[in-house]
Amino acid sequence: MAGEKSKILIIGGTGYIGKHVVEASAKGGHPTFALVRESTISDRSKAQIIDHFKSLGVHIVPGDLYDHEKLVKAIKEVDVVISTVGHGQIADQVKIIAAVKEAGNIKRFFPSEFGNDVDRVHAVEPAKSAFEVKAQIRRKIEAEGIPFTYVVSNCFAGYFLPTLVQPGAFAPPPPRDKVIILGDGNPKAIFTSEADIGTYTIRAVDDPRTLNKVLYIRPPKNTHSLNELVALWEKKIGKTLEKTYVPEEKLLKDIQEAPIPVNVILSINHSVFVKGDQTNFEIEPSFGVEASELYPDVKYTTVEEYLDQFV
Ligand SMILES: NC(=O)c1ccc[n+]([C@@H]2O[C@H](COP(=O)([O-])OP(=O)(O)OC[C@H]3O[C@@H](n4cnc5c(N)ncnc54)[C@H](OP(=O)(O)O)[C@@H]3O)[C@@H](O)[C@H]2O)c1
Repeated sequence: MAGEKSKILIIGGTGYIGKHVVEASAKGGHPTFALVRESTISDRSKAQIIDHFKSLGVHIVPGDLYDHEKLVKAIKEVDVVISTVGHGQIADQVKIIAAVKEAGNIKRFFPSEFGNDVDRVHAVEPAKSAFEVKAQIRRKIEAEGIPFTYVVSNCFAGYFLPTLVQPGAFAPPPPRDKVIILGDGNPKAIFTSEADIGTYTIRAVDDPRTLNKVLYIRPPKNTHSLNELVALWEKKIGKTLEKTYVPEEKLLKDIQEAPIPVNVILSINHSVFVKGDQTNFEIEPSFGVEASELYPDVKYTTVEEYLDQFV
C-alpha cells in the first residue's frame, strides 16, 4: 500500500555496523527482520544483542548466507534487503543476489558497502583488491537488473576518531603529547557516527531519490583533514601536540612490510588520508546523492561533539 513503510531484512545485523542499521530500521517504524545464524542465536555472548533486537520488535529469522532455501524464504517476506556482512563474506554476496533474483519481489538491495566509493578509489594493495571485490558485487547487481542503493558512509567515527588515526592504536584515548599524521595531513576525510550511518541508510530505503544511486554520507561538519582534526583536538584539550608527518613513500614501504591485517588498515588509510579518496571528486546527480542534503532534519553528531567524550 502507498505510504506504508517497507519491510526490511538485514543480513549481518548482529555485526558492528549491522546493529545500528537494525536499530534504525526498527526505530524508523519499518517491520524489521534480522537473518541470524542458528549458532549465533544460541550463542550466549550474542544474547544481549538478540534480546535488544527483540525488545525493539525485530523479528529474528534463523538463516545463513549459505542456506539458499532459507534465504529465499526470508527474502520473500520483505520488500528490501540490506546486507551488512563483514569482509569475509563480501564476495559471497553473490548468494544474496541469486536469492533476490529467485524471490523476485525485492524493491531494493543494499549490498555491504559502508566505506569508500569503490568505483572512485586510488588504492594500493591490499586495499585495492578488497575494494575491487565490492565493485564486482556492484557490477553483478547491475547486470542482474536488481534495484539498488550503495551506501558510501566513509569513515566510521568509532574506528578512526578514538585514536586520531594513530597507526597501531585501536582504542582511546587520542594522543595527548605526540601525534603521527599520514602524508601532509591536508586531504579531507569524513567521519560519521555509526548510529547516524544507520539512520541515513534507513531513510534512503523508501526514497525514490536514492534508487539506483550511490548515497554518500558527507555531513559538512564531519569533513576534516587530519591537520584540522588534530587542531580541533588540541583546542579541546588546550595543548599543542608534537607532530610527526609520514611521507607517502614511507607509508607505502610500511604497507609492503606490515603483516595482515595492519597492511590492510594502512592501505585503506593511504587511500583515505593521502589520496583523499573520500572527497577528491564531486557527486554528480547522474550517479549520486548526499545524505545530509536529502535529510536535513537528521541531527547528526558532529566530529567536534564526538571528540568531547575523550576530553
Ligand atoms: N567505513 C568504515 O570505517 C568501516 C569500518 C569497518 C567495516 N566497514 C564495512 O562495513 C561492512 C560491515 O562490516 P562489519 O565490520 O560491521 O562486519 P562484522 O562486524 O564482521 O559483521 C558481520 C556480520 O555478518 C554476519 N555473518 C557472517 N557470516 C554469515 C553467514 N554465513 N550468514 C549470515 N550472516 C553472516 C555476522 O553474524 P554473526 O554475529 O553470526 O557472526 C555479522 O552479523 C563491510 O562492508 C566493511 O567493509 C567499514
